[in-house]
Amino acid sequence: MKSIRDLNLSGRRVFLRVDFNVPLDGGRVSDDTRIAETLPTVRLALERGARLVCASHLGKAKGKRKPELSLAPVAVRFAELLGKAVRFVDDCVGPDAAKAVEALEPGEALLLENLRFHAGEEGNDPDFAAALAALADVYVDDAFGAAHRAHASIVGVPRRMSEKGAGLLLEKEVRELSRLLEPARPFAAILGGAKISGKIDTLRVLSRRADVLLVGGGMANHFVRAIGLPVGRSLLEEDKVPLAREILDYCREAGKTIALPSDFVVAKSPDDGAAAKTVSIQKIPDDLMALDVGPKTLEQFARLLAPAKTIFWNGPMGVFEKPPFDAGTMGVARIVAAAKAVTVVGGGESVQAAHEAGVAEKFTHVSTGGGASLEFLAEGKLPGIEALE
Ligand code: 3PG
Repeated sequence: MKSIRDLNLSGRRVFLRVDFNVPLDGGRVSDDTRIAETLPTVRLALERGARLVCASHLGKAKGKRKPELSLAPVAVRFAELLGKAVRFVDDCVGPDAAKAVEALEPGEALLLENLRFHAGEEGNDPDFAAALAALADVYVDDAFGAAHRAHASIVGVPRRMSEKGAGLLLEKEVRELSRLLEPARPFAAILGGAKISGKIDTLRVLSRRADVLLVGGGMANHFVRAIGLPVGRSLLEEDKVPLAREILDYCREAGKTIALPSDFVVAKSPDDGAAAKTVSIQKIPDDLMALDVGPKTLEQFARLLAPAKTIFWNGPMGVFEKPPFDAGTMGVARIVAAAKAVTVVGGGESVQAAHEAGVAEKFTHVSTGGGASLEFLAEGKLPGIEALE
């Protein structure tokens, strides 16, 4: 994989795939970490005289033009952070995009509209990829957070271009996360969050690499159900329960530790914090839902993590944006940050929690990728990285 440093960018049209999939609140960017993290790549390209065409997805537009998922507010924040004008084009292909690219001078940047407004992006449609590729002479990928998606701008475009390489953020992520592919052991992985479908398959692969697995958040409910206990009205994708069972069986046979929460904080809904109570794993009431892990679980997790030499954490332990259901996630953030181990946190929500707990700078590496970091650790490769090789 070449680095952006090895490419001739001067006066050339450079397609820079970034991951500006950032949270918006009332038309403003509420967390600009991902934009800030890619600035070194953008600055390097502009200093070297690139005519820089930046492209990103935002949210799940599913091939439809959705005004609330426009990248226009992101372009504003991008320009503020860069300290330089950034043009914005309201499509990523077509005559307006081509005209704007042609008008770019060396050292100038523009941002194209949301790639996912076209179904060809997620479908990796060859015509759509060709239309994007036609906008540039050189391809650079800095979108680590999206490198697990085999979409047009991530694999289709680089496959069509002979001059391509990794941006500085992508390089840094690969370097840091590669250290976890041959981890100092014991290697503990903590997995939570509510995105079950995308993650439980990856957890199955990760269970082969890790020595200790700690499961929390919505993910844990599937394991609770798999051992035959009630989960009340908790988040559950019934068809994923057999996979949880399989992971439990594999860990038992392979002599690995897999820990489920020993207690949960339950309530009628995430808005019913005032009536929250803590129950043991055996006793989630039929009419309530698990919304966080309890204090005994934190003690148990701290004990299991104490000997670990490497710790990877992805996904909150509960509905952490709604106190009091944030205590488990904040507790895990503090336990991992204090560990004498190589510690990596990945994923928007876990990273946000680490920041809110005031401990983010104590981690060895804070990854801009959630699903991407998890899949990289499990598989040792990602489609976006392979497309650059
Ligand atoms: C992320 O936020 O994890 C990446 O930007 C990928 O987004 P996606 O899950 O919508 O593909």
